Amino acid sequence: EVWNPSGKYRVVSTKSMPGTRWIRLLTDNDCRLEICTEQKTILSVDDILALIGDRCDGVIGQLTEDWGDVLFSALKRAGGTAFSNMAVGYNNVDVEAANRNGIAVGNTPGVLTETTAELAASLTLSAARRIVEADQFMRAGLYDGWLPHLFVGNLLKGQTVGVIGAGRIGSAYARMMIEGFKMNLIYYDLYQATRLEKFVTAYGQFLKANGEEPVTWKRAATMEDVLREADVISLHPVLDKTTYHLINPERLAIMKKEAVLVNASRGPVIDEVALVEHLKANPMFRVGLDVFEDEPYMKPGLADMKNAVVVPHIASASKWTREGMATLTALNVLGKIKGYPVWGNPNQ
Ligand code: DGY
Repeated sequence: EVWNPSGKYRVVSTKSMPGTRWIRLLTDNDCRLEICTEQKTILSVDDILALIGDRCDGVIGQLTEDWGDVLFSALKRAGGTAFSNMAVGYNNVDVEAANRNGIAVGNTPGVLTETTAELAASLTLSAARRIVEADQFMRAGLYDGWLPHLFVGNLLKGQTVGVIGAGRIGSAYARMMIEGFKMNLIYYDLYQATRLEKFVTAYGQFLKANGEEPVTWKRAATMEDVLREADVISLHPVLDKTTYHLINPERLAIMKKEAVLVNASRGPVIDEVALVEHLKANPMFRVGLDVFEDEPYMKPGLADMKNAVVVPHIASASKWTREGMATLTALNVLGKIKGYPVWGNPNQ
């Protein structure tokens, strides 16, 4: 699909994206925009090489694509200078290879913070209150009357939420769980989440002033402290060599037997084979997963686990956010081509 065929700058988008603002931004600024209409979901490096062709100023790509030296050097040869990932995470992008080839890399921080945190909160509630299991039970026609033991789950109020990685999304999630469900906080991060700490302190004082039990916070010295103490654990680190299989058999073993574990960051942060074994051995342990180690696949056995809620990497999938992400990708590419600021710029 070609927009503004006579535009001076050739920009390729490897996928169609929501909204029209991003299209207008490019076409109003002298870009010829080519949107790939290939039906298969995940494009290979060869598919993308063909899209880059002989002349290309910038590419908008997706987190399912492998952006390394092959693609960046092809983009450089085609005269390109700009690449934007339609995601805040950029573990699919070799930023050093981009730097070597003089390509600016953009990502889409900010617009997906609350949407992603809301999905992590939804997974927490769904897992804690066994919503999916109960839904399937109803649809199977198995409900034959109220029972004291039917789908008993966990109450969140007064329990401790553990956040690993208290950056933008982790902090937004923590606030939702603290304010929404009056949970206490324990978090682990290399950096101090000062604003989050101030929020919990102020909210705790507010509750106390109103005669309620105040919420508390603690910055954990080790990740293990969070895993041992929290009733709900949500993972929000970036994926890199240091966070690959952060949740491994040893760390699963120290979590509470009835804990809820949520992951809306990146799949390889959890050793998924070990997780399946843990779920089998601990039926009261529950997980909510938005991401998987080998997307789009799940490790064998996971789909059979009643104590797992699984959704297909939809954490940022609200209309407002996806349109915002698309707009930021266009701004990133335009920024580099035209000399405006690049919104997300992990390589600068
Ligand atoms: C991201 O932005 O990194 C999410 O995984 C997709 O929105």
